Amino acid sequence: MYAAVILLVFMCLTATTHADHHQQKPCHLPNATGVMNVMDLKDPVNALGEFTYDSTGNKLRFRSYENFPNASRYLDLLMFFEEGILYEINSKNQSCEKKKVQHNDHILRIPKDAQFLSTMTLGNPSAVGEGLEFSVWTGSMADNTGKYVISVTKGCLPLSSTYYGGPTNVILFSFMNLQSEIKNPEVLEVPSFCEGLPVEETVNRFLEVLM
Ligand SMILES: *[C@@H]1O[C@H](CO)[C@@H](O)[C@H](O)[C@H]1NC(C)=O
Ligand SMILES: *[C@@H]1O[C@H](CO)[C@@H](O)[C@H](O)[C@H]1NC(C)=O
Ligand SMILES: *[C@@H]1O[C@H](CO)[C@@H](O)[C@H](O)[C@H]1NC(C)=O
Repeated sequence: MYAAVILLVFMCLTATTHADHHQQKPCHLPNATGVMNVMDLKDPVNALGEFTYDSTGNKLRFRSYENFPNASRYLDLLMFFEEGILYEINSKNQSCEKKKVQHNDHILRIPKDAQFLSTMTLGNPSAVGEGLEFSVWTGSMADNTGKYVISVTKGCLPLSSTYYGGPTNVILFSFMNLQSEIKNPEVLEVPSFCEGLPVEETVNRFLEVLM
């Protein structure tokens, strides 16, 4: 885990060094399916699972694998970024908690006011099939409590995003096995047992439920 963070910090430093200053607009994340890993250095939450993202509706479902070694908790979340609504779902006992979110810190999408840092390649850029080109973006979190760094592929699929709110307050997402389509759109619907629930709690940011 620390190795991953060190790698990321190194990548960011290198990215800054190589930054060119062409005006670039953040790309628009497409519909996406894949595997997401969440790591939190403080707790540490470590969850690996499947995600589905609908870019038109701007909503995300994440269900972590229960049998992932040393997973600190099982997460099943449905996030509506536009509406600022989040469901924590428990399919086993068919229960659900609905939360209102005040600041929209998006986990996958690059905010419109993000700053372009650099384009880089993981692996070998000069051998076909050996390199993965990606671009790195940064900015301040919606409630100004820290910074984020997001990297995406040429097709704007997310690779990793990191949120820094201080030395012990780091949360890191990485994305794998990506596809730019939605295979099971039904996972993005609010389960029937969650419908019509009142808001139980207001949280500051989407990230809080993961920390
Ligand atoms: C899980 O945690 C235990 C105890 O901390 C450790 O011995 C083991 O190596 C960990 N397993 C994995 C796969 O990280
Ligand atoms: C369902 O299970 C979760 C986790 O075990 C628990 O926190 C929650 O209170 C349960 N809800 C109901 C309605 O039983
Ligand atoms: C993304 O997926 C949703 C749900 O399947 C669909 O309604 C929407 O049209 C798709 N958007 C794009 C840009 O393909």
